[in-house]
Amino acid sequence: MTERTSGAQSEPEVIYSAEAIAARMEELAQEISARKLDRLLIVAVLKGSFVFAADLIRALHRIGLEPEVDFLTLSSYRKSKTSSGKVEILRDLDLGVEGRNVLLIDDVLDSGRTLVFAKDLIAARGAKNILTCVLIDKKVSRAVDVSADFSAFEGGDEFVVGYGMDVAHRYRELPFVGRMSKD
Ligand code: IMP
Ligand code: MG
Repeated sequence: MTERTSGAQSEPEVIYSAEAIAARMEELAQEISARKLDRLLIVAVLKGSFVFAADLIRALHRIGLEPEVDFLTLSSYRKSKTSSGKVEILRDLDLGVEGRNVLLIDDVLDSGRTLVFAKDLIAARGAKNILTCVLIDKKVSRAVDVSADFSAFEGGDEFVVGYGMDVAHRYRELPFVGRMSKD
């Protein structure tokens, strides 16, 4: 791994390898396809879900789906490993969602605030049906009542990075999901 210039923090420890993630993407695509969602619109919440979404849409393509894709950039003011609880739109969707089957994709389901914010926004704009899909479903107590319809993996009360996910803008480039040590 390349040398980092700042911080004495230890490097992430692999919890889901690139191979494990690739295999799970194919299964997840099958699970989504089984719901027979016509005119599917995927909404990927940025930045954290960009790698996940990129792999998932290609797994969906391999089994014959043709989703449209849009992006919603949200900020939860998470500068380090804790959330402030406030979610804001940094960049809105381009496409309309009215009458659409929407699959909302995010990297991590933790307190639930981000997913609920995005779901409520899309519902208020008249989506026909909204399903949610996360890479890591953290099995922790939620601040708001929400669950993911699909999840690639479960997580615990620990901070995960890699495969698009960061801590203070680092580690998005890692091909695996890793955990940070609790210091
Ligand atoms: P929630 O709103 O508390 O559910 O947190 C979800 C958002 O916080 C996700 O969109 C992630 O961007 C971020 N997040 C939460 N936990 C982690 C983590 O362990 N690693 C990286 N990002 C996280
Ligand atoms: Mg996020």
